Amino acid sequence: MKQTGNIVVLTGAGISAESGIDTFRDAGGLWEKHRIEDVATPEAFARNSALVQGFYDARRAALDTVEPNAAHDALARLDARWPDDEKHSLLIVTQNVDDLHERAGARRVLHMHGELRSALCGHCGVRTPWQGALADAPPCEACGAPALRPDVVWFGEMPYQMPRIYQALAKADLFVSIGTSGAVYPAAGFVQEAAAYGARTLELNLERSEGSHWFDESRQGRAGELVPAWVEEVLG
Ligand code: NAD
Ligand code: APR
Repeated sequence: MKQTGNIVVLTGAGISAESGIDTFRDAGGLWEKHRIEDVATPEAFARNSALVQGFYDARRAALDTVEPNAAHDALARLDARWPDDEKHSLLIVTQNVDDLHERAGARRVLHMHGELRSALCGHCGVRTPWQGALADAPPCEACGAPALRPDVVWFGEMPYQMPRIYQALAKADLFVSIGTSGAVYPAAGFVQEAAAYGARTLELNLERSEGSHWFDESRQGRAGELVPAWVEEVLG
């Protein structure tokens, strides 16, 4: 895996599973306990904002009870030691809305689905760091609208910073997908995008995913084991 200059890592709920955060589509996952159309669409928020805010307030509060795991720590080591120059770059694109990558020490992190530790004004689009319950949120500081919502990208909405992600995929030498089922686009299509530009592609996942066949190599196992081993391969 050495001699790899530009790396893009995509992470999904599976990288946080060993920290105790439910994934979405595994047995007992979030989408078994809640209906997507009740808590993860703009229509759901318009229909019952208190219920949707309560769903995300509970997920935000749960963040205080979990810690990064060995997989987050390994990516933070890679981020700390991987150069950022004309021949080397690293971008960790996460679909997760938790803050475990940052708490492990990673800095080059992009949250394409938003973040629980942030609130979004549904009127003017300004994002604000947020810790408490959204139900107590004051009006938007930027525009005064009483419309703060969870800063999470819902089904039917456009994920954040897609141009920046596609630029990184176009120059990637290596694309690594960790802990994602490959069930939801646009993230599920990143492996094909990177491969089309000549990147080598590697999947690290508990089991084969919907996209495993697109990868040059797919390793099955727990992120807490596979990710540290892979990072050691890359750092040598
Ligand atoms: P999509 O259409 O690509 O998603 C397809 C998958 O999403 C389906 O296979 C199903 O698993 C699920 N899905 C979508 N709508 C559903 C519904 N009404 N009922 C049941 N399952 C449904 O996703 P999209 O609509 O293009 O979403 C746009 C973006 O929002 C995606 O990147 C998605 O990952 C993201 N998102 C984030 C969250 C979150 O909580 N962070 C929740 C939902 C969607
Ligand atoms: N180590 C590695 N992989 C794991 C582990 C683990 N310990 N535990 C679970 N996994 C894998 C599962 O095998 C599964 O393939 O993580 C994946 C989790 O898939 P999902 O629950 O679908 O989560 P994710 O892929 O992140 O969902 C994508 O869908 O609902 C939307 O926006 C939401 O960001 C989410 C997106």
